[in-house]
Amino acid sequence: MNLNKILLIHGPNLNLLGMREPNIYGKDSQDQLFKFIEFSFPEIQFIFFQSNHEGLIIDALHEHKNLVDAIIINAGALSHYSYSIRDAIKAINVPTIEVHLSNVHDRESFRSKLVLSDVCCNTIFGKGKQGYIEAVKKLKDIR
Ligand code: DQA
Repeated sequence: MNLNKILLIHGPNLNLLGMREPNIYGKDSQDQLFKFIEFSFPEIQFIFFQSNHEGLIIDALHEHKNLVDAIIINAGALSHYSYSIRDAIKAINVPTIEVHLSNVHDRESFRSKLVLSDVCCNTIFGKGKQGYIEAVKKLKDIR
């Protein structure tokens, strides 16, 4: 099957990209990041969804289960403890790649625990916005 439609989910605080710790997360705003991804893959339709609320992220996963070919998720701090998001990713059975802008394994110890990783096809971290480009390329290989 072709990779035509990707749901990209951003969790808590990623709406503040650009002004939030730019030395760690980069200078681009979330909007600039989304435009960069769209520009890099004009052949793919992206649905961008950001929420600061765990339940709304789970609802978005459920609602898109039959509507997209793949999912890219940066769940922010929820990546470290949300078993509900983990269960939702497993339940919907859509190929999902996890991305982190920063190197979560080289920061505070709580960030090295990633509870979504083993239900995702891959986890990319520490590559800034290029991590999202890599995620799309990996999804193209998977599908
Ligand atoms: C993050 C890393 C998380 O630890 C943090 O809570 C975030 C962003 C990243 O993209 O590097 O909000 O997921």
